[in-house]
Amino acid sequence: MAADEHVSMIPAASKVGWSAEVNGRGFGDEIESGAILLDVLRDQVGTLGVKRGCDMGTCGCCTVIIDGVARLSCLTLAGEAEGCEITTVEGLATGHHLAPIQEMFSECGGSQCGFCTPGFLLTSAALLAKNDSPSDSEVKSAIDGNLCRCTGYQQIVESIQAAAEILRSDAKSKDGTAAQMDPHPGLGAGDAGE
Ligand code: FES
Ligand code: FES
Repeated sequence: MAADEHVSMIPAASKVGWSAEVNGRGFGDEIESGAILLDVLRDQVGTLGVKRGCDMGTCGCCTVIIDGVARLSCLTLAGEAEGCEITTVEGLATGHHLAPIQEMFSECGGSQCGFCTPGFLLTSAALLAKNDSPSDSEVKSAIDGNLCRCTGYQQIVESIQAAAEILRSDAKSKDGTAAQMDPHPGLGAGDAGE
């Protein structure tokens, strides 16, 4: 072997095709086999709102929602999320309208330096999608894997409860609108045709 010939000690990872729906848009690319979802989201998809904090599952900054479930992207292989619906903080707003959870973090002081905020928002959004009337202890339990060095947490719990209140009143007004639009309120399916 020639003296200047380089022999790689670690073989390059092979590439595999990967696709997912990120924030409502299809994304496909080649990724390294064994790639971590956090790296793929930040480096290839470009969703830089997914924060790298500890990179070892202890801070919650990298939380994303995968098929409705809040997951730590630093501990998730991209392959596990293949073909899934992934939501990052960039996908919470609708156009120029912030989601209630974003508005309330801003209004109630749930965010200060903001580094932890994307993770808290996504953990909270996943909780509220399943339960729009959580108790304080359910909120605290949902966010117990998310760390914040600034707020002291009380404002975060208040932000989540304020967002829950908005979601409940939105749901009520939708029910009201549906009832108003129903030409036969009170007529059940079994009554049809009688
Ligand atoms: S970066 Fe994933 S938990 Fe800290
Ligand atoms: S707002 Fe600064 S770490 Fe949470």
